[in-house]
Amino acid sequence: MLRSLDGEVALVTGASRGIGRAVALRLARQGADLVVSGRTKEDLDSLANEAEKMRKKTLVVPGDATKEQDVKKTVQMAKDAYGKVDILVNNVGIGSYKPFAETTVEEYDAMINSNVKSTYLFTRFVVPLMIERHYGQIITISSGSGHAGYAGEAVYCGTKFAEMGLMESLDRELLPHNIKVSTVSPGGVNTFFAFGAGRTKGDPSLQDMLNPDDVAEAVNFVAAQPWKSMVTEITLRPASEPRY
Ligand SMILES: NC(=O)c1ccc[n+]([C@@H]2O[C@H](COP(=O)([O-])OP(=O)(O)OC[C@H]3O[C@@H](n4cnc5c(N)ncnc54)[C@H](OP(=O)(O)O)[C@@H]3O)[C@@H](O)[C@H]2O)c1
Repeated sequence: MLRSLDGEVALVTGASRGIGRAVALRLARQGADLVVSGRTKEDLDSLANEAEKMRKKTLVVPGDATKEQDVKKTVQMAKDAYGKVDILVNNVGIGSYKPFAETTVEEYDAMINSNVKSTYLFTRFVVPLMIERHYGQIITISSGSGHAGYAGEAVYCGTKFAEMGLMESLDRELLPHNIKVSTVSPGGVNTFFAFGAGRTKGDPSLQDMLNPDDVAEAVNFVAAQPWKSMVTEITLRPASEPRY
């Protein structure tokens, strides 16, 4: 049976829309208070209103997840407001699908920074708080593209494999500190992600994709396990999508 997250604090990155927003609201419904980050303040404020209807506190910290100072500020504000972060969900990510030979250095930098550096930064500044309290969970949203390489998305796959490597290593390194490290790897999810860079609005295949709430359920399943039970990895995909 899943446990209540009452009294716990969840920091969700990229919470302004898509999977991050759904995850934040699902964890709030399970009892967690929130810290939500992203660049679009109005969307974070609207998320906070939703969470407050569930009588959950929400700290909104707008910022760029690729910038060290913004991430440090977010974690410091979480510490000042709550004294702790129990659950970190590394969700920020962007995708750009195109032939490798057409991928620009700027697109490479943007994907590496948004997907890998943001995950490094949030984890880097949250882990000391968790070590201090000998308690915590880190859940990173990777992808099916973090398990298999696909034509037309080599750099994106590279970033998602990198997240898997980071998290697998941290699972081993942080176990003695009573910190659980897990990954959730979805297949296609119907979100803004990759619009204009691989997907187009109205694409009929969007209808067959997972919804953000499907991924949020998986994240909540990981986060709300009884403490002695550990879900290392969830992969979920649309039923219409082949196995990776
Ligand atoms: N959608 C899929 O098919 C799919 C499949 C597998 C895995 N994933 C993974 O799921 C995660 C979430 O994707 P999604 O589908 O929910 O995409 P999305 O709808 O585009 O949402 C991305 C979120 O990340 C935030 N974000 C992006 N760059 C940021 C930055 N530099 N600083 C701060 N926030 C930033 C965006 O907010 P702002 O623009 O307001 O900053 C937004 O809240 C990603 O890691 C992605 O790789 C997605």
